[in-house]
Amino acid sequence: MKNRIFLSPPHMGGQELGFVGQAFESNYIAPLGPMVDAFEREFGDYVGIGHCAAVSSGTAAMHLALRHLGVGLGDEVFASTLTFIGGVTPVVFQGARPVFIDCERDSWNMDPVLLEEELARCAGAGCLPKAVVPTDLYGQCCDYGRVFAVCESYGVPVVVDAAEAVGARYRNAEGESDGPSGSGLWLHAGVGARAAVFSFNGNKIITTSGGGMLASDDGELIAHARKLSQQAREDVAHYEHVEIGYNYRMSNVVAAIGRGQLGVIEERVQRKRVVFDYYEAALGGVPGIGLMPEPGWSRSNRWLTVITVDEEAFGASREDIREALAREDIEARPVWKPMHLQPVFDARITQVSVDSKGRTRYPCRVVGGGVAEELFEKGLCLPSGTVLTNQDLDRIIDRVEALGAKA
Ligand SMILES: Cc1ncc(COP(=O)(O)O)c(C=O)c1O
Repeated sequence: MKNRIFLSPPHMGGQELGFVGQAFESNYIAPLGPMVDAFEREFGDYVGIGHCAAVSSGTAAMHLALRHLGVGLGDEVFASTLTFIGGVTPVVFQGARPVFIDCERDSWNMDPVLLEEELARCAGAGCLPKAVVPTDLYGQCCDYGRVFAVCESYGVPVVVDAAEAVGARYRNAEGESDGPSGSGLWLHAGVGARAAVFSFNGNKIITTSGGGMLASDDGELIAHARKLSQQAREDVAHYEHVEIGYNYRMSNVVAAIGRGQLGVIEERVQRKRVVFDYYEAALGGVPGIGLMPEPGWSRSNRWLTVITVDEEAFGASREDIREALAREDIEARPVWKPMHLQPVFDARITQVSVDSKGRTRYPCRVVGGGVAEELFEKGLCLPSGTVLTNQDLDRIIDRVEALGAKA
């Protein structure tokens, strides 16, 4: 029996256990401690963002950011429709309504033209969103230059969902040699946003088994998020609370794993990009197969290699390929199902409502959606683990090619 090939399994670098050992020796087996402080500092230095709060998940990090920005009942938040739900549920937690914006074909990320049109419309109607939350899909930065410029012109804060984008970079505006943080032409995902959210979930490019980071150049935002993540305790000896918080802090043991993983992030990005190139060299010329594009301003971490399958030109569908790989114990996944197609969101309702089976439905709005729908229909994420050997990749490629019309 051949070994199962996973989509993106954890890949430890070797230093993690040493850090975990130090955490044990110091007996800081707690949701705080020197490992958390060091992980926040080192992560901030790596990405080039001034302040960081390590928390229990990327979802928690997004929730804290939106809480700080005052997102609440009756508000709207613009988000990418082509994304994973973890970046969007915090909008709902806050009682606000998500507005799902379609993606552009060049990057598969939030379309800046649609964003601008919708902001202009909302400004005219006096109902600007409380925040814009674009996703850096599969480790590719959205078009930061344009998204930031348009949001800034309407005074709307941007919280980037960079959950998948640790190690990804974007190029600052053409000709400029310095970015918002003064760190050079190629900036890390999230730099320049009001806040950015990262995930260390088990399938991410680096993992702590589960965890997240909220990063911002706004020290007050991070200080408040930190406080909210610890039940919003006031800074007094007795337990006093003047606002409601959460239990979202990262544990010292988990942060120790993160410190070890941070040491290998550049290696992981390099290998992910080689994996993508390997697939591209083999499949790029196959009729009906396309690969996720990378615009000139993007240096994706290629967290996942994603192909598109044109059934007619290729001779088999996306699902045919996925199922054939599954039969070989190879995990491949459809591209995220767009948020506006999720049954839990309903653009026809204006109030939260409960359906006949007792399931709660949440109102949303949709701007465009056709591009995301097409990518969902045709898109397939191929195994992209940094542990994969070229023989593993050949096995996957052979299975895909065998299904093609000319096979
Ligand atoms: C785009 C995106 N947003 C948010 C999240 C949520 O992160 P977490 O699983 O750490 O809560 C994830 C990943 O899981 C993600 O891929």
